[in-house]
Amino acid sequence: MRGTRIEIRPGALRNNARRARILADGAEVFAMIKADGYGHGLTLAADALAGEVDGFGVAVLEEARALREHGISAPILVAEGFFDREELEQARALSLEMVVHSPWQVALLQDNPGPLRLWLKLNTGMNRLGLRPDIALEAAEQLAAASMNPVGVMSHFACADEADEGRTDPQMALAGEVADRLGLPLSAANSAALIRYPHTRAQRVRPGIMLYGSSPFDWQSAAQLDLAVSHRFSARLIAINEIQPGDTVGYGATWTATRPGRIGVVAAGYGDGYPRHAPSGTPAAVNGQLTMLVGRVSMDMLTIDLHGIEADIGDEVELWGDHVDVDKVARACGTISYELFCQITGRPERVIV
Ligand SMILES: Cc1ncc(COP(=O)(O)O)c(C=O)c1O
Repeated sequence: MRGTRIEIRPGALRNNARRARILADGAEVFAMIKADGYGHGLTLAADALAGEVDGFGVAVLEEARALREHGISAPILVAEGFFDREELEQARALSLEMVVHSPWQVALLQDNPGPLRLWLKLNTGMNRLGLRPDIALEAAEQLAAASMNPVGVMSHFACADEADEGRTDPQMALAGEVADRLGLPLSAANSAALIRYPHTRAQRVRPGIMLYGSSPFDWQSAAQLDLAVSHRFSARLIAINEIQPGDTVGYGATWTATRPGRIGVVAAGYGDGYPRHAPSGTPAAVNGQLTMLVGRVSMDMLTIDLHGIEADIGDEVELWGDHVDVDKVARACGTISYELFCQITGRPERVIV
């Protein structure tokens, strides 16, 4: 048995949802479980979080349909809304909450009136999805004229996780203004805003990454935020090589030994979803002892420094989890934990603990 595995911890998801619930301070909590529950498993995340949250957020209708087919009856918000008339009809049949982010969707609704819970998505500065405030007010009128009053207003923050605090307030003020004008509930906060900016909670919050035991911030760890590890990546040592000064390791000979030592070969690579661009120095742990990657990650293996470390063939190496903070691995790789979680392939064994 190769022993390369992803451990998923539903109890940690629940713990983190309870943290979100406390921070939400009475606002509805919708757990974002799009992209296969941030790589944790869509239905697994939903089952783990059911009862802890008020509803779920996904990106696309297929994800919502999979949840309904799995028996999830809680409210589901589809953040990209419908793509065409067929999806609009399916959304009605599945009793979904659909985001309306573009005038073409308003036009499609006018041509196909009927009951559906609609959230008007505002562009308050992110300039990705959303209607500009003046267009949103117009859209609300057009929808009301077709007996499809929106049930809420939502927006998304561009910089709630950035050190610069100046960009979130203007977005929130604009969103609040439109929600007030329409007399509708507002949903704006992602994990970063929920943790950091209490005034953004409004009527509904939409945490994602904090549920998965990762910190949205560079300057504060998940442990400091009392978040529990929900995703642990480990693999076994399958070879140990003695090396001498001047020896190089791996493709491209990118790392050269400066002293005699030992290199551990670990049975995980980019074919398992470990990032190929993880540089030498990226943290890993063997038997609870911290060490680092040396040389390039290959498809099925990666190599670690075993200098001064007690380790044998067959020992477990943690690539992220309890000893190795996934956010530190992400930073070393110039990415975010979201991407690391999402890019795990089907090859590692999944174990629900
Ligand atoms: C519309 C929307 N709301 C909420 C979230 C959750 O964000 P986070 O995972 O940073 O908490 C996302 C995630 O990207 C999103 O796209």
